[in-house]
Amino acid sequence: MKQIKLKDQVFEVSIPSEKIHQSVTKVAQKINQDYKDKNVPLFISILNGSFMFTADLLKQIDFNCEITFLKLSSYHGTTSSGNVKQLIGINEKISGRDIIVLEDIVDTGITLEQIIKELNKFGANSVKITTLLLKPEAYDKDITIDYVGMEIPNDFIIGYGLDYDGLGRNLPDIYTLKS
Ligand code: IMP
Ligand code: MG
Repeated sequence: MKQIKLKDQVFEVSIPSEKIHQSVTKVAQKINQDYKDKNVPLFISILNGSFMFTADLLKQIDFNCEITFLKLSSYHGTTSSGNVKQLIGINEKISGRDIIVLEDIVDTGITLEQIIKELNKFGANSVKITTLLLKPEAYDKDITIDYVGMEIPNDFIIGYGLDYDGLGRNLPDIYTLKS
């Protein structure tokens, strides 16, 4: 198995890029189907982790849409701090629109809950959640996640946008922390 060392930790490939791309395509096809008759939906991509997923997904979206970015922060090292800060806000009109939130990964759901709380202030017509990855064992919120690329075990991962202390986001495959 391909391994990589980032700072003090060793990671091993767990999801090769071909498998990631199959999941992205599956999600894109579903969204294309569900939104084909909607009026210019707005994608909101959650930075930093979702940048690679967002780029790959949007290339496969076949209806007129807009994209904007929201930046929050809750992670320190390899664990969720439970403390979410908003670093970049949204300038686009949200009221009356169909919103599709793009997340790289939903872990505890704390970040997602915060995002939904923010968005609910603006009176969107609909808000749906897309995540490439979901850790069902860690997720303990009631918010429905509408589109899930893959369910994964409750392990710390990096690559394809996800980082360990800022490193590893550039990797095309996903790696899991070796215990
Ligand atoms: P949550 O608030 O616990 O659901 O965590 C969500 C955010 O934490 C994600 O958007 C990621 O940016 C980050 N995160 C969660 N799990 C991992 C992981 O395994 N590796 C790297 N970042 C993660
Ligand atoms: Mg994130």
